[in-house]
Amino acid sequence: MQSHFAHFLDLNKGSLDRRIFSDPEIFELELERIFARCWLLLGHESMLPKANDFFTTYMGRDSVIVTRQADGTIGCFLNMCRHRGNRVCRADSGNARSFSCPFHGWTFGSNGALTNVPGYKEIYLEKLDLQAHGLVPVAKIDQYKGLIFATFDANAPSLLDYLGDMAWYLDMILDRREGGIEFLPGTHKWLVHTNWKFPVDNFIGDSYHGPVSHKSAWVSGFEGMPRRKSGYGYEGFQVCPGGGHGFGTRWAENREQVFEMALPEFLDYEKSRLEESIERLGNLRGLHFSPMHASIFPNVSLLWQGSAIRVWHPKGPKLTEAWGWCFVDKAAPDDYKREKALHMVQRHGTSGTWEADDVDNWVQCHGSSEGFVARQYPQNLEMGLGDEINDPHAIHPDIRGRLGKFQSEINQRSFYTHWAKLMDDTRAPQVPTVGAASQGATA
Ligand code: FES
Ligand SMILES: [Fe+2]
Repeated sequence: MQSHFAHFLDLNKGSLDRRIFSDPEIFELELERIFARCWLLLGHESMLPKANDFFTTYMGRDSVIVTRQADGTIGCFLNMCRHRGNRVCRADSGNARSFSCPFHGWTFGSNGALTNVPGYKEIYLEKLDLQAHGLVPVAKIDQYKGLIFATFDANAPSLLDYLGDMAWYLDMILDRREGGIEFLPGTHKWLVHTNWKFPVDNFIGDSYHGPVSHKSAWVSGFEGMPRRKSGYGYEGFQVCPGGGHGFGTRWAENREQVFEMALPEFLDYEKSRLEESIERLGNLRGLHFSPMHASIFPNVSLLWQGSAIRVWHPKGPKLTEAWGWCFVDKAAPDDYKREKALHMVQRHGTSGTWEADDVDNWVQCHGSSEGFVARQYPQNLEMGLGDEINDPHAIHPDIRGRLGKFQSEINQRSFYTHWAKLMDDTRAPQVPTVGAASQGATA
């Protein structure tokens, strides 16, 4: 496999080579250079309230167990028995002091340590090095305001450096009320026959598709419609904080405009929480920005109004497993939380009104990347090229990062540029040393 992934994206023309969505060799290299290196979202600390609570998830294609260890810290380990490699934990979530491998019975503590081996005396003659055969820990695990991330690369920057200015903008979700957010119980999971980059691209900056793709949901009257939302070119920006992250936000001059952008069913709640948010976040993040959609590099996406957060697990060049949760302000009243959960499922659940629209588009676009002739013709990402906002500080002195208009592909260009940079970096990720489980990283 040759390097030079930068050549797959032509920033002068805004064109992107479709082979990056379908080539199996590129996908395999992504597992090493993107997913074994980057900080990946595991979940939220509200999913592990008690000691020995656990859930399983994926980091790239690797299955991992995330545990609340006995000392209260959070650990994350490869869900792989060190004997033959069987998955030691088959459950989605639960509470367990230990994990016993269903193949031959090696047993591991919630801190990953190998605590019992059947026949240790009689068969292994006590020679097997137990210390060296604990579950393999991630290299680093950390939290940002309740969101738990981990990386397999010991050379990765700190989580805060990795998120950069995106962390400051994420506060618009994570810190707008006292107590932050929680994930409501339940993980929604579904398979999509597309490459993982299509949904990330959609959430990072495709505010262009809404009036067409989701028109049926709006005109049917099936769901509430903000009073200030229609057509093209309306007030707002794509914000590009760097690091391959990005989000789209609308702009409100004053409180009345914030309320015009609220969904009618949640207007009362928006009114009740706005002053607290402005006080906590300041005018830019609390009042003027009304964010809509975002992606955190590489495979996390968010919808503010939809209260949806997603991880797009890569399963192959043409298969992605979507995992979704509903997040809410912890301080919100219970009836609001119930209403939000219903709203999320109705719109953004596995067969939600919006989800079905989006998924079909990604599947069809992916199909074009598989045809030999079709993939000779690049994707077009030129929207807003050369039309970026030159002086964001003239709009507001606190703005961080670059800005495009609300309908602009600035964030997609940034995402693929960062993707190419990592793919062209040939340094192998420094995965944890075998036997380091007893010193496993914790958050
Ligand atoms: S594979 Fe787990 S005990 Fe043998
Ligand atoms: Fe959509």
